[in-house]
Amino acid sequence: MKDRTALVTGSTSGIGLAIADELAREGYRVVLTGRRKERLEKIVEDFSERGRTATGIVADLAKPGEAERMFTEALVWSGGRLDVLVNNAGTWQQSLVEDITREAFRSLMSLNLEAPFILSGLAMKIMKEQKGGTIVNISSVAGLEAWARTALYSASKFGLRALTQSLLAEGASFGIKAFAVCPGYVATPMTDGAQVSPDEMIQPHDVARIVATHLSLSPATVLKDVVISRLGAED
Ligand SMILES: NC(=O)c1ccc[n+]([C@@H]2O[C@H](COP(=O)([O-])OP(=O)(O)OC[C@H]3O[C@@H](n4cnc5c(N)ncnc54)[C@H](OP(=O)(O)O)[C@@H]3O)[C@@H](O)[C@H]2O)c1
Repeated sequence: MKDRTALVTGSTSGIGLAIADELAREGYRVVLTGRRKERLEKIVEDFSERGRTATGIVADLAKPGEAERMFTEALVWSGGRLDVLVNNAGTWQQSLVEDITREAFRSLMSLNLEAPFILSGLAMKIMKEQKGGTIVNISSVAGLEAWARTALYSASKFGLRALTQSLLAEGASFGIKAFAVCPGYVATPMTDGAQVSPDEMIQPHDVARIVATHLSLSPATVLKDVVISRLGAED
């Protein structure tokens, strides 16, 4: 396991940080990303103090060309190997459909959907050569259902599931797996101020454990649309 590499986008906080931490603990060499340089450096330092192998690449994945640059740098660091790509970086937005401007649409989609498409395409080329790998897309329960004011966010998360299904179909004969994780409320900075209290939410570590469990399954086994719900909740 020592030489396996995982790239986790949006790993300066919340779910992405928990997944990066879990995979590093399991022996993966981990590439973390985010826009906050100092925070990224501090996390990588903390990882290495705990004997984990990690690097951080600052990138704003909503900007054109940034996903491609970040991916190239990640591969230079890993020596060309990529075993796991986790498309996690994302943002949340709520509006009535009538209030969604073209600019707001493009802004959210560029991060939540366009960057995962670009990174998955780049990863597929490497993984096909390697004859194996896994792409994990962090969708949401809002990727299974949409409610008032969630059309834009939900469209991005439904889209991630479409991407996942095609990746799975295109990658199967190369031993490449893809799966989407669809959590309800998770206690992260994204849900700060939500009406549900953090201790009633799913914990980031739960999502990380599910990703790690999937990665440990035998080659012919794949999970599809892993829905993670809060006990007793509808959302
Ligand atoms: N929390 C929930 O209830 C929940 C439920 C279902 C799904 N999700 C999904 O889970 C994923 C992670 O969310 P989270 O709850 O862990 O939120 P979070 O703690 O706010 O983390 C978001 C991560 O994305 C990065 N990010 C944001 N904008 C970026 C950009 N333009 N370019 C690059 N990186 C960017 C942030 O890093 P920087 O700020 O350093 O850039 C951060 O590391 C998202 O895709 C979210 O939609 C969350």
